[in-house]
Formats: sequence, structure tokens, C-alpha cells
Amino acid sequence: MTANPKLPKDYLKGFPQHFMWGGAIAANQAEGAFDAGGKGLSTADMVPYFEKKDYTNLKALMHVSSDTIEKAIAHQSAEGYPKRYGIDFYHRYTEDIALFAELGFKAFRLSINWARIFPNGDDAEPNEQGLQFYENVFTEMKKHGIEPIVTLSHYEMPISLVLNYGGWTNRKVVSFYMKYAETVMNRYKDLVTYWLTFNEINTTIIEPFTGGGVVEDRVENVQEASYQALHHQFVASSLTTKLAREINPEFQIGCMLARMIHYPATSSPEDVHQALVDNQLNLLHTDVQVRGAYPAFIHRYFAEQGITVVMEPEDEGILRKHTVDFISFSYYTSLVSTTTPEKYGVTGANLYSSVKNPNLEVTEWGWQMDPLGLRIVLKELYDRYGVPLFVVENGLGARDQVEADGSIHDQYRIDYMRKHITAMKEAVMDGVEVMGYTSWGAIDIISASTSEMSKRYGVIYVDQDDHGQGTLERSRKDSFYWYKKAIESNGEDLS
Ligand code: BG6
Repeated sequence: MTANPKLPKDYLKGFPQHFMWGGAIAANQAEGAFDAGGKGLSTADMVPYFEKKDYTNLKALMHVSSDTIEKAIAHQSAEGYPKRYGIDFYHRYTEDIALFAELGFKAFRLSINWARIFPNGDDAEPNEQGLQFYENVFTEMKKHGIEPIVTLSHYEMPISLVLNYGGWTNRKVVSFYMKYAETVMNRYKDLVTYWLTFNEINTTIIEPFTGGGVVEDRVENVQEASYQALHHQFVASSLTTKLAREINPEFQIGCMLARMIHYPATSSPEDVHQALVDNQLNLLHTDVQVRGAYPAFIHRYFAEQGITVVMEPEDEGILRKHTVDFISFSYYTSLVSTTTPEKYGVTGANLYSSVKNPNLEVTEWGWQMDPLGLRIVLKELYDRYGVPLFVVENGLGARDQVEADGSIHDQYRIDYMRKHITAMKEAVMDGVEVMGYTSWGAIDIISASTSEMSKRYGVIYVDQDDHGQGTLERSRKDSFYWYKKAIESNGEDLS
């Protein structure tokens, strides 16, 4: 007996033959060319580089105020704004895709920058140059047999929608997003099958500007505004799912969650309950997008937090009817919950800071490394929802040393990937239906949280420093050859 009849019978042996191995990037961290080809300014273009960093408080690093936006708009060059120059994927995608093909990628996850298609978000007509750019990119991928996995919105939206409408707090933005989604889904209906509606949709609650275009100093109650923005994204995602099925019934639509699994610090019932609550708040997003309704606990939570979310009468039906086909998620680290955090130290983590887990080692950026956590997450998500899962982000952010002969010996990255892929394989053998694995930043890109170039995830090295200096030349790290072998053997040879 299996939970899903589509599960291939040979799962006990390891990865199925059709497993989608690949890599992932986001437009705003890779493309650069922030004002080329008719593109409008986006939220990501507002983020300046900070010299001083507190890695235990990534939220503060990503914070953007009205003042920051005003300065950024007045600043017309890319200098000091790393997401404006990225790694110049915009001009170098042919070379990069050839390297992905050499790695043997079956799939590659990337996002469309909304402001390339609708520069202001509310334009009457789309920008043809933007549409053509992605058509060229997808065609190039197809030429190499690489399946595009496309995120419609990955940590950006046109800045005009923020300034003129209040970002996702405004329901009108749902229609603008729908028009954008309809435009690109129609245009690429023969090139793209897999679509993710929002990257890490839970970011809207954790970092509202990045996730939802909510400027904190422009709203009265940030938490309420964030949940309102999130609700609108849920509705937009469901309506997009409906639309997608009308455009091409073959389309596969996924939600995307930053899965932040919380372990209790101790076996005390208080800590266990706290972990349950923290997990419920994280899984609320997949509850809505997969089960089709807000979970029961949220009503008391909203009441106690003084949050009122305006929902239209039709929303309940929209969320219920148009649920996603699969869950995609990012997994980097596990977190710890307790009612007595003062007893423990604090360490960094993806968007959050966490109580330290004494059983785990941390990366240079303080993220706790927990490969077994990936198996746990895969098993719990499959048990809970019974839909296919896709690991669309996982990887190690680390500094790399280039040797005199140009080689890069990143054994630490190989170790990280080996352990996580092994854990994923175990989950597959446990019966979990995993569609694929796209390692984060397969090619080095600008960090989302710190805007650093030196926080590298790639198996492909890009010669550029934190200040945008370098040749931008691409080269193969040791992990490149390792990952290529792992893919060639369909995850059998991880030595
Ligand atoms: C995920 C984001 O949260 O983590 C990516 O979807 C991001 O955009 C990745 O790059 C790694 O985070 P960081 O801050 O190390 O780049």
C-alpha cells in the first residue's frame, strides 16, 4: 500500500528514473541588467549593500524603509546595490546553461522578474523585450533537454506597486499579478510545464517587504498588514492555479514554502507545545495551499494578536477549489523552540535567528546543518499532505578559496550535499514521492539576505567580490565534478 498510486514501484532501490536533478537561482540575485530591456525597478533593486552585518539578525539586514526606497530610486547606478548587477546572467545565460548541461541537469529552477514584463506592474501592455528574453532563456534550456521550473515571483515585485498601491496589502495587486501570470503562462505554454506561484510564501510574514512589498513605516500594524498581504497572495495563487489549468491542462503548479522545522529544546511539555505552535505557523501556508483552507488554530491566533484579515465572501471557495499539484520547499536548517530562550544562545538561520541546538554544527553564517532534518521534513510533509514533493532549494553558503592554478577545493560543500542527498534518498526509500532536487545557487549568485557575493552556494564559481569587482568568469569547483557524477549515477555514486 502506498499513499499515492503514482509512486514508482522501484522506490525501495533509490531515486526513480525520472528524478529531476538540477539547480536553482532567482532573477533578482542572478540576472543583473536592472535597467536593461525596458525593465522597471523592483523591490530587490532597493536593497543596498551593508558593510556591517549581524548574521543573527537577517531580518534587520533585509529591512527596507521609505527612506531606503527614496535613496535607492534617486541612485541610478548599480554600484552599491548588488542585486542590480547580480552575476550578469542576463547576458551570459547561454554560457551558464551550457555548464548546467555539462553537469547533466534535467531541470533548472529560475524566476521571471515581474518588472521585466510589466515595468510598473499596472501597465496596459507587457514589455516585449522582457518576454523575448525569457523565451530565449527557456528555448536555450530546452535545447539542452533541461526542464524549466519557473517561479512567478521570487522576492521581487515592481516598486511602483509598492509606492502606489501599498504592495500586496492592496487587493488590486491580485489582478495585476493575474494579468502578469496569464501573460507569461500563455506566452510560454509550450516551453514551461512546472510553475511555482510565490517563492517561500511564508517570507511575507517574516520579512514583509521582501515577501509582500509591505513597507513597515507605511502601515499601522505590521503583523496585520503582513497577514493581509499573505491572504491576497493565497487568493492570487489559487486563481493562478485555476487559470493555469485553463491555459494548459498539462501544467503542474506548486506552492513553495521555506520549511522551517522546529524541534523542542527539551522534552518538557511547554517546549514541545511551543515547537508545535511554531510548526503550525510555518505549515499554515501549505495547509491553505494544499488542503484549501486556513487551519482551525489561526482564528484564535488572529484574535489574540489583534489581527483582522479582510476576506471576501468568495475567497473560501477559491482557496478550497484550486489547490496546488505539488509542494516545493527550501530546506537549509532546522530550528529550536522553547519557552525559556534565555537559557540558550542564539544563532543565525534562514530569515530567522534560532536558539542553538547543541547537537548540530553551524555554517560560517551560523545556520545549523541538519541533513537528517531533510528526511524528517520530507516524511512529515508527505504524511500530512500526501502530494508529491520537490526540494527546490538546499545548499551550503560558504567562502571559497581559489588556488593559484584556479582550482577550488570545496570539500565542505561536497560533504554537505552528500549528506543531504543521502537523507533525501532514505526518504524516497521510506516511500516519499520526491519529484526532484535543485540545489540552491548551483552557480554563485548574490545572497538574498546579506547581498554578499562571498556567501557562495555554487558548484560553479563566479569571479566577483562583494563590491562587484571581478571578471565574472565562470569556473568549475571540485563540487562540480562530484555533483555531475552524482547526477550521472542517479544518486547512486555519492562517494
Ligand atoms: C532562500 C531564498 O530563503 O534562501 C533564496 O529563497 C536565498 O533567495 C536562499 O538566496 C539562501 O539565502 P541567502 O541569504 O544565504 O542567500
